[in-house]
Amino acid sequence: MSTGSPRVLPAERGIDEAAAVLRAGGLVAFPTETVYGLGANALDARAAARIFEAKARPSFDPLISHLADAADLAALVGEVPAVVAELAKRFWPGPLTLIVDRPESIPPIVTSGLDTMAVRVPDEPSARALIAAAGVPVAAPSANRFGQLSPTRAEHVVAGLGGAVDVVLDGGPTRCGIESTIVDARGERPVVLRLGALPVEAIIEAVGPVEVRQGSSGQPVAPGTLAAHYAPRTPLRLGTAAEPGGGRRGFLAFREPPADGDWAAVEVLSPDGDVTAAAARLFDALHRLDAAGVTEIVAEPVPETGVGRAINDRLRRAAATWH
Ligand code: TXA
Ligand code: MG
Repeated sequence: MSTGSPRVLPAERGIDEAAAVLRAGGLVAFPTETVYGLGANALDARAAARIFEAKARPSFDPLISHLADAADLAALVGEVPAVVAELAKRFWPGPLTLIVDRPESIPPIVTSGLDTMAVRVPDEPSARALIAAAGVPVAAPSANRFGQLSPTRAEHVVAGLGGAVDVVLDGGPTRCGIESTIVDARGERPVVLRLGALPVEAIIEAVGPVEVRQGSSGQPVAPGTLAAHYAPRTPLRLGTAAEPGGGRRGFLAFREPPADGDWAAVEVLSPDGDVTAAAARLFDALHRLDAAGVTEIVAEPVPETGVGRAINDRLRRAAATWH
């Protein structure tokens, strides 16, 4: 844990100061529509190195670079394959990360030595204003320590990273609440490398069939796909409210709280049964259950439709940390 605390500024008023920090090689946590990112100048290898240090992130886990505008992609990487361009046109700004060839201007530390890079344009005005004001692409993983819960509020960032980050822009809770979908569309058939806030159905509708690669290994293509990831500190398992168990337990429900009262803490993701609303609350609910002093969290899977797939993916990976 790092000591000290960062400067926390309201997103709408802190842009210029935060942009100056980025240009000077510092770290700025900022809201996107998905989760808070921990940003550094993507053209500056030393600044990018600070991200890995602050997150205790293994150097094999490459970063996503963020642009202010879709038109900036051509300036950074030149021509891109037709399907990549099509997806960018259709879904940017938005929660879709695309894989492109790494240009010379991006130092290898940003991509963990890969000759490809991940890039997206966030759909959050303050994030785009920050990137535009900094005048550089901004490398930003989720602003949490490696393997832990992603932050959907400025308070999560401050609690998790403390003084390891120079400035936190506070834009309130993030809209989607779950990370971007990562797609490699350079080949014949697009490959979804990480399920995320943009549903697979939307990508298929735009460009036809895709492959969803749910792999996980010690050297994953996208470490967000490591079997154990996105984990609360409290042991978590998938299950139902009907299962017996002892001690102080917390329950993560999809739409209805459990009928019997044998739970020390309960979070309901969406009383309306809406998976998109559930995604927006997922990490916030897990952060709260984690802080509730329970010995175990039981999480109920959500319907496998739309962003529900990404929610279940995160829950399974959180559970894998403990089993
Ligand atoms: O929504 C998001 O994507 C958030 C916000 C801040 O934009 N960012 C985020 O970053 O989730 P992070 O670092 O937590 O996850 C980035 C994922 C990692 O799993 C990484 O391995 C993958 O992107 N990635 C980065 N570059 C890649 C590349 N060249 N090829 C394949 N995967 C890549
Ligand atoms: Mg992450």
